[in-house]
Amino acid sequence: MDKFVIDGGRRLRGAVAVNGSKNAALPILIATLLTDEPCLVDNVPRLRDIRTTVRLLETLGKRVVFRGKTVMVLPNRRLRTRAPYELVKQMRASILVLGPLLARFGRARAALPGGCAIGLRPVDIHLKGLAAMGARERTEQGDVILEGALKPGRIRLRLASVGATENLMMAAAAVEGETVIENAAREPEIEDLGRFLAALGARVAGAGTSRVRVRGSARLHGARHRVIPDRIETGTYLIACAAAGGGVKLAGAEPRHLGALLSALKRSGAEVHALRAAGSSAGLSIRMKGRPRPVSIRTRPFPGFPTDLQAPWMAYMSLARGRSTIREDIFERRFLHAAELARMGAEVAVSERAAVVTGVPELRGAPVMASDIRAGAALIVAALAAAGESEIHRVYHIDRGYERIESVLRRLGARMRRAKA
Ligand code: UD1
Repeated sequence: MDKFVIDGGRRLRGAVAVNGSKNAALPILIATLLTDEPCLVDNVPRLRDIRTTVRLLETLGKRVVFRGKTVMVLPNRRLRTRAPYELVKQMRASILVLGPLLARFGRARAALPGGCAIGLRPVDIHLKGLAAMGARERTEQGDVILEGALKPGRIRLRLASVGATENLMMAAAAVEGETVIENAAREPEIEDLGRFLAALGARVAGAGTSRVRVRGSARLHGARHRVIPDRIETGTYLIACAAAGGGVKLAGAEPRHLGALLSALKRSGAEVHALRAAGSSAGLSIRMKGRPRPVSIRTRPFPGFPTDLQAPWMAYMSLARGRSTIREDIFERRFLHAAELARMGAEVAVSERAAVVTGVPELRGAPVMASDIRAGAALIVAALAAAGESEIHRVYHIDRGYERIESVLRRLGARMRRAKA
């Protein structure tokens, strides 16, 4: 197993390009199950979760060629309709195969994902939505089995779940007639999936709003698509630079996807600018000097502050000149990083859904452990800003969501290396 060794206290300077979005690429790759024709997906990050998705598609019967940042998904043999536990347990998003497979073949089976480090994360909204379209459900051996010929419907989600919205949009894309999803999640990744489904031949309106309409077709065709930039990766590097100090440019970043973070960064004292190239966005730049002002945040569905940047924000606020509150409204237990940050000198008092962070003048390097992707990112942010050396263990969590984070940060001047633990 690998670990990261970071010698902190150096400012970050320079320019890097951001990668394509992991959370957009995952459902888009899975949506290729909706057609037997070849699909080409560009700007796909090379990450562990993407490799798991590729394996999942191969297990189900696709041929997948990953060249550079482009993934070609080709027909191979008749598709299977079962996602095995071995893959679902590595990546919960595997459950997204249910919608497209069920809609196309009248049957789909997937291992139920268990809870995880950040919360219970049930999939009831996915299943209830598919039931509203006509699926019959039973469970066997920890797998959920769905059967039935789906019909279009009007579905109102109990909660604006990102994954459930995606699952239902994919199912609806293969069903003739119009399906309406109310209280849909509005994340940019959903808009991107909507564009891909439209490229396959479905008619999609309102993706990115709380009311998505999909008019599906039983004959979807192949398509080519370019994945949007990763707003969480971008946000992580912005926060890292704010915490360590310095000035960084992130080419290709999309400021419209990061409104809540950019406003919080500005209030904390960072200078943030959108870079323009011929009228369109060319990225973002950030400059920061000295300790931040405390800025309280509360995680909300998009366009609110993203839960995936809550942990890095906490690391940043550990260095603020004063006290801030961090409220986690999306997941039940997403504060595991607080105790690790405390090992570096942070002062964080956690109650059920809120953490009060009292800024300290300096963090100190320490051996710490990542408990999930973004908790790992938070430890990197803290270690970059801290005096002395830190070791971050369980790097495999971080590798699920960040493409070669150590080389990106080294290019920005960080002293960081990967080593055998
Ligand atoms: C996606 C993102 C994840 C991000 C999250 C919230 C991917 C691959 N992952 O996860 O990085 O943190 O959105 O922005 O895109 N819930 C239920 N029942 C359900 C579904 C969800 O109760 O059937 C609850 C969850 O437990 C959670 C909340 O709804 O508390 C939000 O979850 P959801 O939006 O579904 O997140 P994911 O799609 O799993």
